[in-house]
Order: sequence, then structure tokens, then C-alpha cells
Amino acid sequence: MRKIILDVDTGNDDAVAIMMAGLHPDLTLLGCTTVAGNLPVANTTENTLRVLHHIGRSDVPVFRGLGAPFAPHPFPTPAEFVSSATPVHQEELELAPSPVAVDPTPAVEWLVETLRAATERITLVPVGPLTNIAAAITIAPEIVDAVDEIVIMGGSASHGNETSQAEFNIFQDPVAAHVVMNAGFDRLTLVTLDATRHARVSAAQCRELEALGTAGAMATAQILDYYIRGNGNSSPDGAAVHDALCVAYLLDPAVIEVARLHVAIDTVGFHSYGRTLIDLTGISGQRPNSSVALKADSARFFELLRGTLAA
Ligand code: BDR
Ligand code: CA
Repeated sequence: MRKIILDVDTGNDDAVAIMMAGLHPDLTLLGCTTVAGNLPVANTTENTLRVLHHIGRSDVPVFRGLGAPFAPHPFPTPAEFVSSATPVHQEELELAPSPVAVDPTPAVEWLVETLRAATERITLVPVGPLTNIAAAITIAPEIVDAVDEIVIMGGSASHGNETSQAEFNIFQDPVAAHVVMNAGFDRLTLVTLDATRHARVSAAQCRELEALGTAGAMATAQILDYYIRGNGNSSPDGAAVHDALCVAYLLDPAVIEVARLHVAIDTVGFHSYGRTLIDLTGISGQRPNSSVALKADSARFFELLRGTLAA
């Protein structure tokens, strides 16, 4: 049974990732840490508690994380710099509030303590800005040795979804991403937008999920319907459920195709601030530091989603 920690900025696709991780019998979800990203951290925390309560997993503790980037944004962010593709997110998910409160331990403290005390290695799955993870590593660099694999949703080898160059999670905190990429994790898997753009769910597939009738499937259909209607990432084929692809990969690695590549983060550029510089040809001469997912199997993804939510 794989032990995992999800670091989330819930968020619609984060919610689906939490449900998959909380419901699949092969995964032990030790806790969720929250971070600012899609919404301020108070909202991402509230949403995370609601999602877990909805699927009957209020036993999974939620720890509130950092509410601002690890390093301050060096540029003012004029409207023209941040593209109009920025998703419009609802504030609180339309799910009942949880009777369980957030754990009083700050997320970064809990991450450090849990990884220091771990008797078996843990998988980290950050699917928001990398602020909490970078802070934890900075406080306690040795915790990377307690991590079996870190599976990050972020970056792009092609175009971005926040600016023309940068993907949302990395753009929000590129310095944190730089810290994480260079921390020395044994296995670092970067699930880029190029892969997650294939992890789409259509309106018709939402109806299939609804027909399953389980709490998780019904909520996922409702959340994705909203996402399909209102999100800049949607297309006639549906909406990309980026974060859920990371959990699907834990259940079935063949759902993505990975290549060993070197990835650097642009922390200084203006137009390319937050871009992941993915060395596709090896021209930099730098040793690969990541397994980078650039493709995903759409049908396999949906089967994993449906199978997990049916239970
Ligand atoms: C990422 O950005 C967020 O809006 C989503 O939750 C996902 O983690 C996709 O770029
Ligand atoms: Ca997210």
C-alpha cells in the first residue's frame, strides 16, 4: 500500500485528485496540506475539508499551508502580463461544510515532522504551487531521503496556461519550483500540461460518472460540469483534469509516457518568468533531473477515474 501526501490548492481538478486518492484502496492518504494558488489558502483549506467530508474521508487530516509565494514575485503583474486564460474558479465548492476542523499544526511543520519520523518512504504529490514543499525542504533538507517519489503537476514543454510561456502552478512560485527541482529527490516526476491536456473529461463522460451514483462520482460530475462551462482550459472535448492525472499515474504508471530530461525553471526572465525549460534534445549537456510526462492516454485516464469513483 503506497503512502501518499497530497499538497493541494483546491480548486476543481484538485478536488478530483483528492477524491481519487481518498477512495482508491491501493493508496493510503496520510494527509492533505493546502497552499494558496487557485484561491487564497483559507478557501483551498475549506474546499479540501469539504471534499474529504463528502466522500466519507474526514479521518484524513488537513493542514493549512502557506498563503503567499516562497519568494515574492519580482514583477508587478499587470493584467496584460497574466493571460486571459487564467481560470475563473468558484470560491467554495458546492459541497456541505465538514464538521471536522483543520488540524492546528501548520502544514510545513507537519510535512517536516512526518517525513522525519517516517519508517517507510512516502510519496509526495504536490498539485499546486510548490511553496510548502520548498519551505519544508529548506527547513529540513534531509527529508528528501524519506520521499519515495515526488509527483508534481506543473510546467509545460510547449505553451503555458497562465502566460504564453508559463504553467499556472510554476508561475505562482517559480523560486519554490527551482528549490524543489534541485533538492535531490531520487525520483521526481513532472506531469506537465502537455500530458494533462490529454486528461480530459467531456460533458458526456460526466453523465457516465453521474450514472454511477456514488458520492464521489456525483460530486466529480458536478465539479467538472462547472469546470467545462467556466474554465479557460475547456474545449469541445471537455476540461483537462490536470491534478487527477498525477493520482492516476500512481495507480497505473502506463497512463503517462515519461522521458528522462533536464528541467530548469526561469526565475528571472520577464516574458518567460515561471517557464519550465525542458531540455528535449540534451543540448544543455546537463544530466536529466526529472522524469517528464509529455503525453497521456486519455481513455486509460478516464477508466482509472471511473473505476476509482465507482467504488
Ligand atoms: C494547474 O493549475 C491549477 O489551476 C490547477 O489546479 C492545476 O494544478 C494546471 O495548470
Ligand atoms: Ca491544483
